Amino acid sequence: MTAHTDAIPFDSAFAQDLHARYAQLREAGPVHRLISDSGLPVWVLTRYSDARAMLTDPRLSKDAQAIFRLILDRFASESERQDSEDGRFAGAGFDMHMLNMDPPDHTRLRKLVVQAFTARRIEALRPRIEQISDELLTAMAGEAEVDFLDAFAFPLPIRVICELLGIDESRRDDFRHWTNQLLDDIDGEASAQAAREMAQYLTELLAAKRQHPADDLLTALIEVSEDEDRLSETELISMVFLLLVAGHETTVNLIGNGVLALLTHPDQFAALRANPELVDGAVEEMLRFDGPLMHATFRFTTEPITVGDTVIPAGEFVWAGLAAANRDPEKFPEPEAFDITRDSHGHLAFGHGVHFCLGAPLARREAQIALRGLLAHFPDLQLATAPENLSRRNSSLIHGLQALPVRLTPRA
Ligand code: HEM
Repeated sequence: MTAHTDAIPFDSAFAQDLHARYAQLREAGPVHRLISDSGLPVWVLTRYSDARAMLTDPRLSKDAQAIFRLILDRFASESERQDSEDGRFAGAGFDMHMLNMDPPDHTRLRKLVVQAFTARRIEALRPRIEQISDELLTAMAGEAEVDFLDAFAFPLPIRVICELLGIDESRRDDFRHWTNQLLDDIDGEASAQAAREMAQYLTELLAAKRQHPADDLLTALIEVSEDEDRLSETELISMVFLLLVAGHETTVNLIGNGVLALLTHPDQFAALRANPELVDGAVEEMLRFDGPLMHATFRFTTEPITVGDTVIPAGEFVWAGLAAANRDPEKFPEPEAFDITRDSHGHLAFGHGVHFCLGAPLARREAQIALRGLLAHFPDLQLATAPENLSRRNSSLIHGLQALPVRLTPRA
Protein backbone atom coordinates (compact mmCIF):
# COMPACT_ATOMS: atom_id res chain seq x y z
CA MET A 1 0.00 0.00 0.00
CA THR A 2 1.31 3.48 -0.73
CA ALA A 3 1.13 5.99 2.10
CA HIS A 4 0.67 9.72 1.69
CA THR A 5 3.37 11.81 3.32
CA ASP A 6 1.47 15.10 3.51
CA ALA A 7 -0.90 13.79 6.18
CA ILE A 8 -0.76 13.47 9.98
CA PRO A 9 -0.15 9.92 11.24
CA PHE A 10 -2.98 8.57 13.35
CA ASP A 11 -0.58 6.53 15.48
CA SER A 12 -0.40 5.34 19.06
CA ALA A 13 0.89 8.75 20.24
CA PHE A 14 -2.31 10.25 18.80
CA ALA A 15 -4.44 7.57 20.48
CA GLN A 16 -2.77 8.13 23.88
CA ASP A 17 -3.49 11.85 23.70
CA LEU A 18 -6.73 11.74 21.77
CA HIS A 19 -8.68 14.67 23.16
CA ALA A 20 -5.79 17.15 23.08
CA ARG A 21 -4.89 16.14 19.51
CA TYR A 22 -8.48 16.35 18.33
CA ALA A 23 -8.89 19.74 20.04
CA GLN A 24 -5.82 21.09 18.21
CA LEU A 25 -7.17 19.84 14.89
CA ARG A 26 -10.68 21.19 15.53
CA GLU A 27 -9.29 24.63 16.33
CA ALA A 28 -7.12 24.56 13.22
CA GLY A 29 -9.99 23.69 10.88
CA PRO A 30 -13.02 21.48 10.25
CA VAL A 31 -11.32 18.81 8.16
CA HIS A 32 -7.85 17.22 8.13
CA ARG A 33 -6.05 14.49 6.31
CA LEU A 34 -4.65 11.67 8.47
CA ILE A 35 -2.93 8.39 7.75
CA SER A 36 -4.84 5.59 9.46
CA ASP A 37 -3.09 2.70 11.21
CA SER A 38 -3.60 0.56 8.09
CA GLY A 39 -1.69 3.11 6.01
CA LEU A 40 -4.78 4.46 4.25
CA PRO A 41 -5.25 8.22 3.96
CA VAL A 42 -8.48 9.37 5.60
CA TRP A 43 -10.17 12.75 6.07
CA VAL A 44 -11.39 13.41 9.59
CA LEU A 45 -14.22 15.84 10.36
CA THR A 46 -13.70 17.54 13.72
CA ARG A 47 -16.73 19.78 14.21
CA TYR A 48 -20.06 18.67 15.60
CA SER A 49 -22.27 20.07 12.83
CA ASP A 50 -20.12 18.62 10.00
CA ALA A 51 -19.68 15.22 11.67
CA ARG A 52 -23.42 14.91 12.31
CA ALA A 53 -24.34 16.02 8.78
CA MET A 54 -21.87 13.60 7.26
CA LEU A 55 -23.46 10.63 9.04
CA THR A 56 -26.71 11.15 7.13
CA ASP A 57 -25.17 12.24 3.82
CA PRO A 58 -26.08 9.71 1.07
CA ARG A 59 -22.91 10.67 -0.86
CA LEU A 60 -20.93 8.76 1.77
CA SER A 61 -21.06 4.99 1.47
CA LYS A 62 -20.26 2.06 3.74
CA ASP A 63 -20.52 -0.62 1.06
CA ALA A 64 -17.64 -3.02 1.87
CA GLN A 65 -17.47 -4.42 -1.69
CA ALA A 66 -17.11 -0.94 -3.16
CA ILE A 67 -14.58 0.08 -0.49
CA PHE A 68 -12.54 -3.01 -1.27
CA ARG A 69 -12.53 -2.27 -5.02
CA LEU A 70 -11.48 1.29 -4.25
CA ILE A 71 -8.55 0.11 -2.12
CA LEU A 72 -7.51 -2.34 -4.82
CA ASP A 73 -7.67 0.28 -7.59
CA ARG A 74 -6.01 3.09 -5.71
CA PHE A 75 -3.58 1.59 -3.25
CA ALA A 76 -2.78 -2.06 -3.94
CA SER A 77 0.26 -3.28 -5.83
CA GLU A 78 -0.18 -5.39 -8.98
CA SER A 79 0.51 -8.61 -7.05
CA GLU A 80 -1.95 -7.65 -4.29
CA ARG A 81 -4.53 -7.07 -7.03
CA GLN A 82 -3.87 -10.50 -8.53
CA ASP A 83 -4.13 -12.18 -5.13
CA SER A 84 -7.51 -10.68 -4.50
CA GLU A 85 -9.80 -13.49 -5.60
CA ASP A 86 -11.40 -11.99 -8.74
CA GLY A 87 -11.75 -8.53 -7.21
CA ARG A 88 -14.43 -9.53 -4.72
CA PHE A 89 -14.03 -8.84 -1.04
CA ALA A 90 -13.63 -12.10 0.85
CA GLY A 91 -12.36 -10.61 4.09
CA ALA A 92 -12.20 -12.80 7.17
CA GLY A 93 -15.54 -14.43 6.35
CA PHE A 94 -17.52 -12.33 8.81
CA ASP A 95 -17.40 -8.86 7.27
CA MET A 96 -20.76 -8.96 5.49
CA HIS A 97 -22.73 -7.29 8.24
CA MET A 98 -25.03 -4.27 8.41
CA LEU A 99 -22.27 -1.85 9.40
CA ASN A 100 -20.52 -2.65 6.12
CA MET A 101 -23.56 -2.03 3.92
CA ASP A 102 -25.75 0.71 2.51
CA PRO A 103 -29.52 0.47 2.12
CA PRO A 104 -31.34 -1.58 0.92
CA ASP A 105 -29.10 -4.45 2.19
CA HIS A 106 -28.43 -2.56 5.39
CA THR A 107 -32.19 -2.12 5.96
CA ARG A 108 -32.87 -5.83 5.32
CA LEU A 109 -30.24 -6.98 7.84
CA ARG A 110 -31.02 -4.44 10.53
CA LYS A 111 -34.74 -5.30 10.38
CA LEU A 112 -33.95 -8.89 11.34
CA VAL A 113 -32.60 -7.93 14.77
CA VAL A 114 -34.08 -4.55 15.58
CA GLN A 115 -36.91 -6.09 17.65
CA ALA A 116 -34.43 -7.73 20.02
CA PHE A 117 -32.93 -4.36 20.99
CA THR A 118 -35.94 -2.09 21.49
CA ALA A 119 -36.11 -0.14 24.76
CA ARG A 120 -39.01 -2.36 25.88
CA ARG A 121 -37.09 -5.61 25.27
CA ILE A 122 -34.04 -4.24 27.03
CA GLU A 123 -36.14 -3.12 30.00
CA ALA A 124 -37.27 -6.75 30.34
CA LEU A 125 -33.61 -7.74 30.73
CA ARG A 126 -33.09 -5.32 33.59
CA PRO A 127 -33.51 -7.82 36.49
CA ARG A 128 -31.02 -10.22 34.94
CA ILE A 129 -28.46 -7.46 34.24
CA GLU A 130 -28.86 -6.27 37.85
CA GLN A 131 -28.29 -9.80 39.09
CA ILE A 132 -25.08 -10.24 37.05
CA SER A 133 -23.82 -6.82 38.14
CA ASP A 134 -24.54 -7.64 41.77
CA GLU A 135 -22.75 -10.98 41.56
CA LEU A 136 -19.64 -9.36 40.11
CA LEU A 137 -19.59 -6.56 42.68
CA THR A 138 -20.12 -9.01 45.55
CA ALA A 139 -17.23 -11.13 44.29
CA MET A 140 -14.96 -8.06 44.34
CA ALA A 141 -15.76 -7.31 47.99
CA GLY A 142 -13.07 -9.62 49.39
CA GLU A 143 -10.29 -7.79 47.53
CA ALA A 144 -8.40 -4.68 48.54
CA GLU A 145 -7.45 -3.74 44.98
CA VAL A 146 -8.61 -4.95 41.55
CA ASP A 147 -8.33 -4.06 37.90
CA PHE A 148 -11.86 -2.75 37.46
CA LEU A 149 -11.85 -3.67 33.78
CA ASP A 150 -11.03 -7.32 34.49
CA ALA A 151 -13.23 -7.67 37.54
CA PHE A 152 -16.33 -5.84 36.32
CA ALA A 153 -16.36 -3.70 33.17
CA PHE A 154 -15.46 -6.61 30.88
CA PRO A 155 -17.45 -9.53 32.37
CA LEU A 156 -20.75 -7.62 32.70
CA PRO A 157 -21.39 -6.81 29.01
CA ILE A 158 -19.91 -10.06 27.71
CA ARG A 159 -22.19 -12.11 29.96
CA VAL A 160 -25.23 -10.10 28.95
CA ILE A 161 -24.62 -10.32 25.20
CA CYS A 162 -23.80 -14.05 25.44
CA GLU A 163 -27.06 -14.71 27.28
CA LEU A 164 -29.03 -12.65 24.78
CA LEU A 165 -27.55 -14.50 21.83
CA GLY A 166 -27.64 -17.88 23.60
CA ILE A 167 -23.87 -18.47 23.64
CA ASP A 168 -21.92 -20.30 26.30
CA GLU A 169 -19.74 -17.63 27.88
CA SER A 170 -16.93 -20.02 28.85
CA ARG A 171 -14.94 -18.80 25.82
CA ARG A 172 -15.21 -15.18 26.95
CA ASP A 173 -11.46 -14.77 27.44
CA ASP A 174 -11.01 -15.88 23.84
CA PHE A 175 -13.59 -13.29 22.67
CA ARG A 176 -11.65 -10.62 24.49
CA HIS A 177 -8.35 -11.76 23.07
CA TRP A 178 -9.67 -12.03 19.48
CA THR A 179 -11.42 -8.66 19.64
CA ASN A 180 -8.34 -6.94 21.02
CA GLN A 181 -6.19 -8.49 18.32
CA LEU A 182 -8.65 -7.45 15.60
CA LEU A 183 -9.25 -3.91 16.83
CA ASP A 184 -5.90 -2.86 18.27
CA ASP A 185 -2.85 -1.95 16.23
CA ILE A 186 -0.81 -5.05 16.36
CA ASP A 187 1.07 -6.96 13.74
CA GLY A 188 -0.88 -8.31 10.80
CA GLU A 189 -0.14 -12.00 11.41
CA ALA A 190 -1.51 -11.95 14.99
CA SER A 191 -4.63 -10.22 13.74
CA ALA A 192 -5.04 -12.70 10.84
CA GLN A 193 -4.62 -15.59 13.29
CA ALA A 194 -7.32 -14.11 15.57
CA ALA A 195 -9.62 -13.74 12.55
CA ARG A 196 -9.09 -17.39 11.58
CA GLU A 197 -9.76 -18.62 15.11
CA MET A 198 -12.83 -16.48 15.46
CA ALA A 199 -14.20 -17.62 12.06
CA GLN A 200 -13.71 -21.24 13.05
CA TYR A 201 -15.35 -20.65 16.42
CA LEU A 202 -18.37 -18.95 14.81
CA THR A 203 -18.82 -21.80 12.31
CA GLU A 204 -18.73 -24.41 15.09
CA LEU A 205 -21.05 -22.33 17.24
CA LEU A 206 -23.70 -22.17 14.51
CA ALA A 207 -23.41 -25.91 13.83
CA ALA A 208 -23.90 -26.67 17.54
CA LYS A 209 -26.88 -24.32 17.78
CA ARG A 210 -28.49 -25.96 14.74
CA GLN A 211 -28.26 -29.28 16.63
CA HIS A 212 -29.62 -27.78 19.85
CA PRO A 213 -31.97 -24.89 19.10
CA ALA A 214 -33.21 -22.84 22.06
CA ASP A 215 -35.26 -19.77 22.87
CA ASP A 216 -32.56 -17.24 22.00
CA LEU A 217 -31.52 -14.72 19.35
CA LEU A 218 -29.04 -17.03 17.66
CA THR A 219 -31.69 -19.70 17.07
CA ALA A 220 -34.07 -17.04 15.74
CA LEU A 221 -31.40 -15.85 13.28
CA ILE A 222 -30.64 -19.41 12.17
CA GLU A 223 -34.34 -19.91 11.43
CA VAL A 224 -34.38 -16.74 9.34
CA SER A 225 -31.26 -17.85 7.46
CA GLU A 226 -33.11 -20.90 6.20
CA ASP A 227 -34.87 -18.45 3.90
CA GLU A 228 -31.81 -17.34 1.92
CA ASP A 229 -33.46 -14.25 0.50
CA ARG A 230 -33.43 -12.79 3.95
CA LEU A 231 -30.04 -13.86 5.36
CA SER A 232 -27.25 -15.80 3.64
CA GLU A 233 -24.85 -18.03 5.60
CA THR A 234 -22.01 -15.47 5.37
CA GLU A 235 -24.37 -12.73 6.50
CA LEU A 236 -25.48 -14.92 9.42
CA ILE A 237 -21.90 -15.48 10.61
CA SER A 238 -21.16 -11.78 10.10
CA MET A 239 -24.22 -10.74 12.10
CA VAL A 240 -23.19 -12.91 15.05
CA PHE A 241 -19.65 -11.53 14.84
CA LEU A 242 -20.91 -7.93 14.82
CA LEU A 243 -23.32 -8.42 17.72
CA LEU A 244 -20.72 -10.23 19.80
CA VAL A 245 -17.95 -7.70 19.22
CA ALA A 246 -20.04 -4.50 19.22
CA GLY A 247 -22.07 -5.88 22.12
CA HIS A 248 -19.19 -5.94 24.56
CA GLU A 249 -16.09 -4.06 23.42
CA THR A 250 -17.68 -0.62 23.49
CA THR A 251 -19.67 -1.03 26.71
CA VAL A 252 -16.56 -2.23 28.57
CA ASN A 253 -14.91 1.08 27.77
CA LEU A 254 -17.97 3.20 28.45
CA ILE A 255 -17.97 1.78 31.98
CA GLY A 256 -14.15 1.96 32.31
CA ASN A 257 -13.76 5.52 30.96
CA GLY A 258 -16.85 6.65 32.85
CA VAL A 259 -15.65 5.33 36.20
CA LEU A 260 -12.25 6.93 35.58
CA ALA A 261 -13.99 10.27 34.94
CA LEU A 262 -15.82 9.94 38.27
CA LEU A 263 -12.67 9.01 40.17
CA THR A 264 -10.73 11.94 38.73
CA HIS A 265 -13.60 14.39 39.37
CA PRO A 266 -14.38 13.81 43.07
CA ASP A 267 -16.95 16.64 43.16
CA GLN A 268 -18.97 14.86 40.47
CA PHE A 269 -18.62 11.52 42.24
CA ALA A 270 -19.82 13.16 45.48
CA ALA A 271 -22.80 14.71 43.66
CA LEU A 272 -23.77 11.30 42.29
CA ARG A 273 -23.38 9.63 45.69
CA ALA A 274 -25.58 12.31 47.22
CA ASN A 275 -28.19 11.93 44.52
CA PRO A 276 -28.20 8.59 42.64
CA GLU A 277 -31.13 9.90 40.57
CA LEU A 278 -28.43 11.66 38.53
CA VAL A 279 -27.21 8.31 37.16
CA ASP A 280 -28.96 8.50 33.78
CA GLY A 281 -27.58 11.98 33.09
CA ALA A 282 -24.15 10.88 34.31
CA VAL A 283 -24.08 8.06 31.74
CA GLU A 284 -24.93 10.51 28.92
CA GLU A 285 -22.16 12.84 30.09
CA MET A 286 -19.72 9.90 30.21
CA LEU A 287 -20.64 9.08 26.60
CA ARG A 288 -20.07 12.69 25.56
CA PHE A 289 -16.96 13.37 27.61
CA ASP A 290 -14.98 10.20 26.99
CA GLY A 291 -16.99 7.78 24.85
CA PRO A 292 -15.52 4.47 23.72
CA LEU A 293 -15.24 5.21 19.97
CA MET A 294 -12.77 7.80 18.68
CA HIS A 295 -14.61 8.19 15.39
CA ALA A 296 -17.25 6.41 13.36
CA THR A 297 -16.09 3.59 11.11
CA PHE A 298 -14.82 4.30 7.56
CA ARG A 299 -17.10 5.78 4.94
CA PHE A 300 -16.08 6.81 1.44
CA THR A 301 -17.21 9.60 -0.82
CA THR A 302 -19.13 8.54 -3.92
CA GLU A 303 -18.98 12.16 -5.19
CA PRO A 304 -17.01 15.23 -4.13
CA ILE A 305 -18.19 16.83 -0.87
CA THR A 306 -17.31 20.25 0.48
CA VAL A 307 -16.45 20.81 4.14
CA GLY A 308 -15.61 24.43 4.99
CA ASP A 309 -13.26 25.52 2.20
CA THR A 310 -12.09 22.01 1.42
CA VAL A 311 -13.39 19.82 -1.36
CA ILE A 312 -12.96 16.12 -0.57
CA PRO A 313 -12.82 14.39 -3.96
CA ALA A 314 -14.88 11.32 -4.83
CA GLY A 315 -13.40 7.99 -3.74
CA GLU A 316 -11.82 9.16 -0.48
CA PHE A 317 -12.18 7.75 3.03
CA VAL A 318 -13.77 9.87 5.73
CA TRP A 319 -14.13 9.56 9.51
CA ALA A 320 -16.71 11.48 11.53
CA GLY A 321 -14.58 12.43 14.54
CA LEU A 322 -17.09 11.52 17.26
CA ALA A 323 -14.76 12.30 20.17
CA ALA A 324 -13.83 15.65 18.56
CA ALA A 325 -17.47 16.54 17.82
CA ASN A 326 -18.52 15.72 21.39
CA ARG A 327 -16.12 18.36 22.69
CA ASP A 328 -16.98 21.03 20.15
CA PRO A 329 -17.58 24.26 22.14
CA GLU A 330 -20.10 25.39 19.49
CA LYS A 331 -22.36 22.56 20.64
CA PHE A 332 -21.32 21.93 24.26
CA PRO A 333 -20.23 25.00 26.28
CA GLU A 334 -17.07 24.38 28.32
CA PRO A 335 -16.67 21.01 26.68
CA GLU A 336 -13.58 19.99 28.68
CA ALA A 337 -15.59 20.08 31.93
CA PHE A 338 -17.03 16.77 33.10
CA ASP A 339 -20.41 17.82 34.47
CA ILE A 340 -23.00 15.12 35.14
CA THR A 341 -25.78 17.70 35.43
CA ARG A 342 -25.22 19.33 32.03
CA ASP A 343 -27.47 18.74 29.05
CA SER A 344 -25.43 16.24 27.00
CA HIS A 345 -28.36 15.58 24.72
CA GLY A 346 -27.41 15.17 21.06
CA HIS A 347 -23.92 13.76 21.67
CA LEU A 348 -22.65 11.57 18.84
CA ALA A 349 -21.14 8.71 20.88
CA PHE A 350 -23.65 6.27 19.34
CA GLY A 351 -23.31 7.76 15.86
CA HIS A 352 -26.24 9.15 13.88
CA GLY A 353 -28.40 8.26 10.88
CA VAL A 354 -29.23 4.78 9.60
CA HIS A 355 -26.22 3.19 11.33
CA PHE A 356 -27.08 4.73 14.71
CA CYS A 357 -26.02 2.17 17.30
CA LEU A 358 -28.49 -0.69 17.44
CA GLY A 359 -27.37 -1.55 20.97
CA ALA A 360 -27.70 1.96 22.46
CA PRO A 361 -30.65 1.04 24.78
CA LEU A 362 -28.72 -2.01 26.02
CA ALA A 363 -25.44 -0.12 26.52
CA ARG A 364 -27.19 2.70 28.38
CA ARG A 365 -29.07 0.27 30.62
CA GLU A 366 -25.93 -1.73 31.44
CA ALA A 367 -23.96 1.40 32.32
CA GLN A 368 -26.80 2.80 34.47
CA ILE A 369 -27.11 -0.50 36.36
CA ALA A 370 -23.32 -0.68 36.75
CA LEU A 371 -23.15 2.81 38.27
CA ARG A 372 -26.06 2.22 40.65
CA GLY A 373 -24.44 -1.04 41.78
CA LEU A 374 -21.09 0.62 42.24
CA LEU A 375 -22.57 3.38 44.39
CA ALA A 376 -24.35 0.80 46.52
CA HIS A 377 -21.36 -1.53 46.98
CA PHE A 378 -18.33 0.79 46.87
CA PRO A 379 -19.32 4.41 47.51
CA ASP A 380 -15.70 5.16 48.50
CA LEU A 381 -14.04 3.67 45.45
CA GLN A 382 -10.64 5.20 44.68
CA LEU A 383 -8.03 5.03 41.99
CA ALA A 384 -5.14 2.82 43.11
CA THR A 385 -2.58 4.70 41.03
CA ALA A 386 -1.96 8.24 39.85
CA PRO A 387 -3.99 9.07 36.71
CA GLU A 388 -0.77 9.78 34.76
CA ASN A 389 0.28 6.14 35.24
CA LEU A 390 -2.75 4.88 33.30
CA SER A 391 -2.33 4.17 29.62
CA ARG A 392 -4.75 3.94 26.76
CA ARG A 393 -5.10 1.03 24.39
CA ASN A 394 -3.17 1.33 21.16
CA SER A 395 -6.22 1.15 18.97
CA SER A 396 -7.23 3.51 16.20
CA LEU A 397 -10.93 3.01 16.84
CA ILE A 398 -11.53 2.05 20.47
CA HIS A 399 -10.79 4.66 23.10
CA GLY A 400 -10.24 2.64 26.25
CA LEU A 401 -7.81 1.99 29.08
CA GLN A 402 -5.30 -0.84 29.26
CA ALA A 403 -6.25 -1.34 32.92
CA LEU A 404 -8.04 0.56 35.69
CA PRO A 405 -6.60 -0.34 39.12
CA VAL A 406 -8.96 0.66 41.91
CA ARG A 407 -8.88 0.45 45.69
CA LEU A 408 -11.99 -1.01 47.28
CA THR A 409 -13.46 -0.01 50.61
CA PRO A 410 -16.71 -1.90 51.11
CA ARG A 411 -19.67 -0.01 52.50
CA ALA A 412 -19.36 0.13 56.29
C1 HEM B 1 -23.22 0.84 15.54
C2 HEM B 1 -21.32 3.04 19.41
C3 HEM B 1 -22.78 -0.60 22.26
C4 HEM B 1 -24.39 -2.94 18.38
C5 HEM B 1 -22.60 1.75 16.35
C6 HEM B 1 -22.09 3.03 15.91
C7 HEM B 1 -21.55 3.63 16.99
C8 HEM B 1 -21.73 2.76 18.12
C9 HEM B 1 -20.87 5.00 17.02
C10 HEM B 1 -22.15 3.59 14.49
C11 HEM B 1 -20.84 3.38 13.78
C12 HEM B 1 -20.79 4.07 12.42
O1 HEM B 1 -21.78 4.69 12.00
O2 HEM B 1 -19.73 3.99 11.78
C13 HEM B 1 -21.55 2.24 20.50
C14 HEM B 1 -21.21 2.61 21.86
C15 HEM B 1 -21.62 1.58 22.65
C16 HEM B 1 -22.22 0.57 21.80
C17 HEM B 1 -20.53 3.90 22.26
C18 HEM B 1 -21.52 1.39 24.14
C19 HEM B 1 -21.32 2.34 24.95
C20 HEM B 1 -23.39 -1.54 21.48
C21 HEM B 1 -24.04 -2.72 21.96
C22 HEM B 1 -24.48 -3.39 20.88
C23 HEM B 1 -24.12 -2.61 19.69
C24 HEM B 1 -24.19 -3.13 23.43
C25 HEM B 1 -25.25 -4.68 20.97
C26 HEM B 1 -25.36 -5.59 20.19
C27 HEM B 1 -24.19 -2.12 17.30
C28 HEM B 1 -24.54 -2.49 15.94
C29 HEM B 1 -24.18 -1.41 15.12
C30 HEM B 1 -23.64 -0.39 15.99
C31 HEM B 1 -25.15 -3.81 15.49
C32 HEM B 1 -24.37 -1.29 13.60
C33 HEM B 1 -25.68 -0.62 13.33
C34 HEM B 1 -25.94 -0.41 11.85
O3 HEM B 1 -25.01 -0.50 11.03
O4 HEM B 1 -27.10 -0.13 11.51
N1 HEM B 1 -22.38 1.62 17.71
N2 HEM B 1 -22.15 1.02 20.50
N3 HEM B 1 -23.47 -1.49 20.10
N4 HEM B 1 -23.66 -0.85 17.29
FE1 HEM B 1 -23.00 0.11 18.92
